[in-house]
Amino acid sequence: MAVEVLSTAEGRAKTALSHAHAARWFAERAAGTPIPIGAASPPPRPARPVKPDLLPPRDVPRRRTGSPEGRIALLHAVAHIELNAVDLHWDIIARFGHHPMPMGFYDDWVKAADEESKHFNLLCDRLEAMGSFYGALPAHAGMWQAAEDTALDLQGRLAVVPMVLEARGLDVTPGMIDIFTKAGEAETVAALQVIYAEEVGHVAYGSKWFNWLCGREGSDPKEVFHTLVRRYFHGTLKPPFNEEKRAEAGLPPDFYWPLTEDAD
Ligand SMILES: [Fe+2]
Ligand SMILES: [Fe+2]
Repeated sequence: MAVEVLSTAEGRAKTALSHAHAARWFAERAAGTPIPIGAASPPPRPARPVKPDLLPPRDVPRRRTGSPEGRIALLHAVAHIELNAVDLHWDIIARFGHHPMPMGFYDDWVKAADEESKHFNLLCDRLEAMGSFYGALPAHAGMWQAAEDTALDLQGRLAVVPMVLEARGLDVTPGMIDIFTKAGEAETVAALQVIYAEEVGHVAYGSKWFNWLCGREGSDPKEVFHTLVRRYFHGTLKPPFNEEKRAEAGLPPDFYWPLTEDAD
């Protein structure tokens, strides 16, 4: 089921399949007939639509958010992140299926994938209401890098994807909500608030399972986190941090503050 989502290229088709598979997963869990985890061979990179064109990050044009065009560009960039997130959550299920994990691990990532699918669709709806669509603008090409870098390391994947990248989303989303509030775009504000609330859960799933794996091997989670982020994440963590929401997601300050000092 995960590989099927990863192999579907078009955004709305990918998210429809993601919703359908998540619904089936939870129905079978509720019925006491859980779907076996099995083994899978996920593609090295997920299938993606023909558009948007993917450009190196420095070539993606930046626009001021004071104009409708700028706000469309911002929503387009977030929609691209959400589509990538759908694939990231199904990928962790497919890629690490050979690691024995409790069923709750799969429940969490299926739920996260289901929510990312909703986030992508919400943003596509907003783009379309503003006269644009996902694919109308170029997007960031480097989004799958973190997945490739951590394809062989489950703890590394958890450290970099939910606990660094998705936690970064918690830092920047309030600023985006401000932009759309000032522009009087209430429906976009509502969509971003749904995303903001649910992203706390994704970071929390990351820190829960990261800590669980450290507990199983008897290692110090903070030390392992620092080692793995330095190994796999290209760059440093940038304050200001959303300390409140990071705490809610089980991410203490001594995990991330030391990683801001690595700049060279
Ligand atoms: Fe999301
Ligand atoms: Fe997320």
